[in-house]
Amino acid sequence: MRFILLAVFVMMSSVASGAEMIKLPQPKYDSQFSIEKTLLERRSVRNYKDEALTLAEVSQLLWAAQGITDKANGLRTAPSAGALYPLETYLVAGKVTGLPSGLYKYKPRGHELEKIADGDKRAELSKAALGQSSVKEAPVVIALSAVYARITGKYGDRGIRYTDMETGHVGENVALQAVALGLGTVMVGAFNDDAVKKVLGLPAEEEPLYLIPVGKK
Ligand SMILES: Cc1cc2nc3c(=O)[nH]c(=O)nc-3n(C[C@H](O)[C@H](O)[C@H](O)COP(=O)(O)O)c2cc1C
Repeated sequence: MRFILLAVFVMMSSVASGAEMIKLPQPKYDSQFSIEKTLLERRSVRNYKDEALTLAEVSQLLWAAQGITDKANGLRTAPSAGALYPLETYLVAGKVTGLPSGLYKYKPRGHELEKIADGDKRAELSKAALGQSSVKEAPVVIALSAVYARITGKYGDRGIRYTDMETGHVGENVALQAVALGLGTVMVGAFNDDAVKKVLGLPAEEEPLYLIPVGKK
């Protein structure tokens, strides 16, 4: 039954401006897990069970990363200098119930995924991340990248610092949400920039900043 419901979400995907869009399930805005408990229990987890994540879990993690929390003004879960939002969020899906393996881009406004490419990119991404097994073994990897030009126009070089600070906020949001979902994650900053750019198909002006593998502990 659960699988059928998830399959329906995927079938609801629409084709807008040529891109395949996949509507994500509504995230939850409350849980029994206190913020204190998530802080206490957050630990880097680099080994995961060989189990799929659900689309609901993926939806929740992406919402924690960059979900819209103030529709009128387009403000998000993480703070951003000047509300300029220089970050982009990608999902490298290897094993997600009801979602084909592939590379997706998270679109905060519609809380949806845009399909970028088919196929499991985890092994390739792991190679680009100096062979780190967490990247290959996690059912999903959330990747954060920056379009610095969105913020340096207003703040000059300081915009680079602001973007890197914001990346930390977003990473911690994902880490704490993972704890509250009973999942494990680790922040991966050690990788070859050019190789990661290639795997994610990033345009020249977009720089990869964080890889965040997430899986069942
Ligand atoms: C900016 C940054 C980059 C990191 N890069 C990696 C990495 O490439 N691989 C990895 O396994 N852990 C990485 N970590 C996780 C740290 O190793 C980890 O946070 C640290 O050992 C403390 O452990 P804890 O997270 O369990 O408290 C990184 C952490 C930060 C903040």
